[in-house]
Amino acid sequence: MKDNKSFFESIVCTYCGKEFDKNQIHDVCDSCGKVLYPQYNLEEAKEHLSKQEIRFRRVYNIWRLHEIMPVNNPKYRISLGEGWTPIVKLNNFGKKINLKSLYIKDEGQNPTGTFKSRGLCAAVSKALEFGINEFVMPSAGNAGAALSAYAAHAGAKAHIFVPKDTPNLIQKEISYMGGDLTLVEGLISDAGREAKEEGDKNGWFSVSTLKEPYRVEGKKTMGLELAEQFDWKLPDVIIYPTGGGTGIVGMWKAFEEMEVLGLIGSERPKMVSVQPSGCQPIVRAFKNGDEFAKPWENAHSFASGIRVPGAIGDYLILNAIRESHGTAIAVDDSEIKEAMYSFAKMEGIMVCPEAAATIAATEKLYQQDFLDSDEEVVLFITGSGLTTPNDW
Ligand SMILES: Cc1ncc(COP(=O)(O)O)c(C=O)c1O
Repeated sequence: MKDNKSFFESIVCTYCGKEFDKNQIHDVCDSCGKVLYPQYNLEEAKEHLSKQEIRFRRVYNIWRLHEIMPVNNPKYRISLGEGWTPIVKLNNFGKKINLKSLYIKDEGQNPTGTFKSRGLCAAVSKALEFGINEFVMPSAGNAGAALSAYAAHAGAKAHIFVPKDTPNLIQKEISYMGGDLTLVEGLISDAGREAKEEGDKNGWFSVSTLKEPYRVEGKKTMGLELAEQFDWKLPDVIIYPTGGGTGIVGMWKAFEEMEVLGLIGSERPKMVSVQPSGCQPIVRAFKNGDEFAKPWENAHSFASGIRVPGAIGDYLILNAIRESHGTAIAVDDSEIKEAMYSFAKMEGIMVCPEAAATIAATEKLYQQDFLDSDEEVVLFITGSGLTTPNDW
């Protein structure tokens, strides 16, 4: 058991700092309504997590650094082989836009085809440890597919609410794995209202984005892996498609923890958030210097995973962008579409629309002199293009 220990210590509010008992179930802070994070005894964990020790581990999933993951009992750490996704150098695209060290982290190679596998693996595992086995969640689609998969694997039940225009293939993916799918008129915010209503009525456990403290821990593993894959020296720039923002904030949390663990120094990559022009609340708030992002009205984009009008973790996303001297940028749907097709031909990788937004953004950022030719730049390809309908 010693070798499998977690140093999970408490739950803390990211806004007001209130502490909560880790042995109880929490959603958001009961004082200020903001996002809760798990915290670890990093001083103790440090003794188990030297670079040398990590190097010889044979676990290549989100439990690789189980010391700083929130599930105490190893028997509840389920896995479908998520994580440890490859870093691929983009020679052709790099040459085209004059970036010498351009890479992707290919999250499309996760079990459900997107980075959402990581968060739902962590959340379902932790819930199982609490004895929970019926879940509810609003989703733009990909998170719903991941919940369906992990719930099925755990022998649990998942109820998923998605907007009616969620890509057909993703709807099928959810149902195929036994998820109870409800189509909702409107956007993810409308799906969220319906999921909450039904969840409260039926006593289902909600794993809605950042409304339980554990999904973010799964996303954190992208940052842990990135550091190890780059030999503990983080790249200069990370470009990420942002909806609810757990990808960005999860990695930011990973960097802070790794610094305390002595695995990395105080340098951070510039964090770049990419949103579609038709729904860019984070970009607007960043430009206005706001602490929070006002909900975006009449949101529209075919990249439904980043068509998120309001994010509960807005202040965390904005903080990571600002502290890292990063930026936020919007791209048009036509640019996203063009990037999907041209990137597939150029690099042999089919990506989903959300991921293609980072490709379109990279070209723009170079033109705007935000990126330098010699910088090490990593795009997060958050999902594969294989669930992309062929009529786009
Ligand atoms: C493929 C893909 N990329 C990016 C995102 C946005 O992720 P986040 O909500 O963590 O910002 C989503 C969300 O649904 C997604 O499905």
